[in-house]
Amino acid sequence: MVAYLQLLPLLGVLFAGGVHSKTSNVGDTADANNTVGSWDYVPGAYIIEYEQGHENEASLFSTLHTHGLPVSKRMSLSYSLFKGASVQLDAVSLDPQAASTKIASLAPVKNVWPVMRYQNLELGKFASTSGVKRNVGDFSQHVSRAAADSDTGYAPHVLTQVDKLHAEGYTGKGIRVGVIDSGVDYKHPVLGGCFGEGCIVAYGMDLIGPDFNGTNTPVPGPYPYPDCLGHGTHVSGIIAAQKNPLGFIGAAYGATLGMYKALDCGGGSSNDVLMAAFNQAYEDGSDVISISIGIYSGWKEDPLAVTVSRIVDAGVPVVIANGNQGPAVFSSASPGDGAGVMNVASIDNTETPFLGTEAFTSLNSPSGNLTSFAWLPGTPAFPNITLPLWAVTPNTTTDGSSSACSPLSSSAPTDLSDKIVLVQLTGCDDPTIAANLAKNNATYIIYYSSDDDLDDVYSVSTAPSTLGAGMVPLQQATIWLDLLSKGTDVYAKMVDPQSANPGATYFPNNATGGIVSDFSSWGPTWEADVNPHIATPGASILSTYPLNMGAYYVDSGTSMATPLMASIYALIMQARSIKDPKALLSMVSSTAKQTKYRDSYQSILYNDLAPVAQQGAGLAQAYDAIHATTTLSVSSISLNDTDHFVNSTYFTIKNGAKQAVTYSIGHLPSRSRDTFKAGVSSPSQSSNSSSSAATLTFSDTKVTVPAGGSAKITVEVALPQGLTKANLPVYSGYITLNGTNGESLVLPYLGVFGSLSSLQGIDSSNGYIYHSTGHYWQAAPNNDIWTLPYPSVGSQPPNSAAIDFPALYILVTTGVPLIRADIIPLGNTPANTTKVLGVDTAGSFPGFPVQWVFSNIYQIPFNGVTQEGIILPEGNYALSLRALKIFGDANNSDDYYTVQTQSFNIKYNSTAA
Ligand SMILES: *[C@@H]1O[C@H](CO)[C@@H](O)[C@H](O)[C@H]1NC(C)=O
Ligand SMILES: *[C@@H]1O[C@H](CO)[C@@H](O)[C@H](O)[C@H]1NC(C)=O
Ligand SMILES: *[C@@H]1O[C@H](CO)[C@@H](O)[C@H](O)[C@H]1NC(C)=O
Ligand SMILES: *[C@@H]1O[C@H](CO)[C@@H](O)[C@H](O)[C@H]1NC(C)=O
Ligand SMILES: *[C@@H]1O[C@H](CO)[C@@H](O)[C@H](O)[C@H]1NC(C)=O
Ligand SMILES: *[C@@H]1O[C@H](CO)[C@@H](O)[C@H](O)[C@H]1NC(C)=O
Ligand SMILES: *[C@@H]1O[C@H](CO)[C@@H](O)[C@H](O)[C@H]1NC(C)=O
Repeated sequence: MVAYLQLLPLLGVLFAGGVHSKTSNVGDTADANNTVGSWDYVPGAYIIEYEQGHENEASLFSTLHTHGLPVSKRMSLSYSLFKGASVQLDAVSLDPQAASTKIASLAPVKNVWPVMRYQNLELGKFASTSGVKRNVGDFSQHVSRAAADSDTGYAPHVLTQVDKLHAEGYTGKGIRVGVIDSGVDYKHPVLGGCFGEGCIVAYGMDLIGPDFNGTNTPVPGPYPYPDCLGHGTHVSGIIAAQKNPLGFIGAAYGATLGMYKALDCGGGSSNDVLMAAFNQAYEDGSDVISISIGIYSGWKEDPLAVTVSRIVDAGVPVVIANGNQGPAVFSSASPGDGAGVMNVASIDNTETPFLGTEAFTSLNSPSGNLTSFAWLPGTPAFPNITLPLWAVTPNTTTDGSSSACSPLSSSAPTDLSDKIVLVQLTGCDDPTIAANLAKNNATYIIYYSSDDDLDDVYSVSTAPSTLGAGMVPLQQATIWLDLLSKGTDVYAKMVDPQSANPGATYFPNNATGGIVSDFSSWGPTWEADVNPHIATPGASILSTYPLNMGAYYVDSGTSMATPLMASIYALIMQARSIKDPKALLSMVSSTAKQTKYRDSYQSILYNDLAPVAQQGAGLAQAYDAIHATTTLSVSSISLNDTDHFVNSTYFTIKNGAKQAVTYSIGHLPSRSRDTFKAGVSSPSQSSNSSSSAATLTFSDTKVTVPAGGSAKITVEVALPQGLTKANLPVYSGYITLNGTNGESLVLPYLGVFGSLSSLQGIDSSNGYIYHSTGHYWQAAPNNDIWTLPYPSVGSQPPNSAAIDFPALYILVTTGVPLIRADIIPLGNTPANTTKVLGVDTAGSFPGFPVQWVFSNIYQIPFNGVTQEGIILPEGNYALSLRALKIFGDANNSDDYYTVQTQSFNIKYNSTAA
């Protein structure tokens, strides 16, 4: 079985509660508003996995009690793949290390982990916490189930061939899709309007209760409702939305949905809640599990990643978002890093939906055929009225613009009261424009934006004399301006938003449509595992939203790509009755369609293919996946780094067709991309790319495989030329197979050009002691003296800005499997010591060691009490910071990078803190 985080022999890997550690992204040009998860420990809370034969909660609790560790239960974790519980120590001030070591040593306990609390786990870019929300109106009363076939031409489904499977009658019927998210508004008519047997949302539960904040005890309930974040309802609609007036439909709209509410209203959760949610979704018979949440990691050993891997090993595919931290290399999230999972990247939609209030236009006559358009109501909004559009143009303004920041020129009509004035919102504010237009008696105004960013459309405000106002995107106005300039009269039939329906207009995105989304996280993992595996449209996706949050919403993220991929699995399961995770991964991967590489920093679209670390196998092609008769034995190949370079490998082709097929085998390299930019020690969002590629030689370039037979192909690999190891480029490409039966398949591979174990993670410029009352960026002088209040055994530093503690600062810039911070007594300091990896230490610095680290900033004050709860004697100390090399052996001191900090002196005054 999969090995869980094990206790290390000496000091263990358990952590004191309440240490002041923080996670944040330290990429050079990170978009601060990207949803970046952060975490903390819940003081005194632990997850316990039972030793086999000891699966008895009552007996565990009494054993803990008799060993002086009274606990209360957080959650029972009693599942077929995990048997245990999470507990909260009744007295958090107990020596935390002693407590965890004690727990670990008890007979019924196989594994112990600290409970971690996460924030902002949802991988939607415009989730409610980032505040990018527009007032599109309240449509909760107006949702109707339209009869029209909404699938025809719906871009995300056309791109992935889902529309073709719908046309063949596949809808995911009979397949159970389990989703772990923020809950779902199943009262939404487009999601069926009910919960339970016979409903679209047929199963699931609430794992947290309304008051959960990650720290307190979760209170489960039967209904995954309400969804106060919106994210879960959006994800649900991508899978299972029924036909509706807005022109979208769920990719598996016949499937049965299960929702496990595990995120609170701010996107927060904890690892015990998530472990329970993943296991419960498995337990309840989900055929596929969809997870659009993650925390930046890059480690498949992370406990959440290990949990999902157990589910995959048990035969249920788990589809998980790769994260929104692109375009830096090595930016993938956990649990998406888990071994065996289907990890999903996002592709930009080829059509960008603009969601608003519905109104209509007709050409040449107010009673002509109506075309619907979407607009955002201003203040005041429009009444029911039909009037011709009149556009402000350079010819009708005194300043030659298309806005009215100055009064209109004499060539404009003096009375505009019987028109709707179309004006660009640029150069000044909306009330100024309204006031200038009012001089010509304009009372109705439609503004449009100065650029084609649909987020630049606002709820406008106006002059007191304005009777109706709203705003449309530049793209919409451009269509009207074209017609007007040709002399066509355009009549707008406005509808009072109080009674209007929601409306959506889809504009072509020919700049980035079909290209991997800029925000989509990149693989590989820190151990060079291939990541992501596939891409589906996840940017600018219109879906359902809770009725009390507007009923519909456009969001972007690998969160939105993931449920589409899970839906494709549901369609394949219905069509082919294949449920094996490995077979499904291989089917979808080998039939994917590769996209070109776009450098979003320089806005260059290359002819080279996008790296495997960015797009995986490419854009999923559901129809081809279902209809292919050829299968490949593996879905991707990692060539590892140059220290462990795999220069020879093989794969097997199986021909499931009824006749022999001859396959031509070839190689399509993709673009290589550096991890680092010169002078930047963390993965860079704007590092260089290059066309240097590996050379592949095959045992056969043409092979005929009989019906039902298979053929083995060996692959010899020569490293790429002209790349710089110090920049840690990741190179990749596709082995291509073209069959005489018309099938084209790919086998993606990637390798890291350079040494992963040479990544230092920490160095002396970013690991040192500072004064907690000073600035963390100022290392303290060597041998400084701190006089501290005398602490009590097992205590934490009080949260007091008035006391100057010696504090540890570490900035970790790459993945590190394990970081130790051991306290070394210097000179005649009379401390008791233990030898740890060849060094005499007086104990561990609080909060250490830590495992599976990426991009962390640690700022931890020290009150003289070690991680083990021991009070250090007065004296002179330094810290030995040791970062385990990637692929290193934790028990071998040679496998660590070591930084010794400045020395520091501790004295105590007589009073306890
Ligand atoms: C982040 O959001 C804030 C407030 O919404 C905004 O002022 C800022 O410009 C945004 N930053 C980026 C990098 O988009
Ligand atoms: C969570 O809620 C509990 C009360 O239920 C409160 O004591 C605690 O401070 C809260 N924690 C956070 C981080 O908000
Ligand atoms: C309106 O649409 C109908 C049906 O498509 C068409 O026959 C008719 O010519 C259209 N009328 C105008 C004025 O365009
Ligand atoms: C406006 O028009 C809508 C639909 O066309 C209608 O339902 C509504 O009653 C009208 N409102 C008023 C105030 O006339
Ligand atoms: C603006 O004026 C120019 C020259 O007078 C004319 O050619 C052009 O057609 C006018 N444009 C519009 C939109 O009226
Ligand atoms: C336009 O408004 C002005 C006053 O602002 C008024 O004198 C004029 O009669 C109005 N014109 C029309 C046609 O209503
Ligand atoms: C996108 O299409 C529009 C209209 O067809 C065109 O004006 C524009 O130049 C195109 N943009 C790009 C980047 O190709």
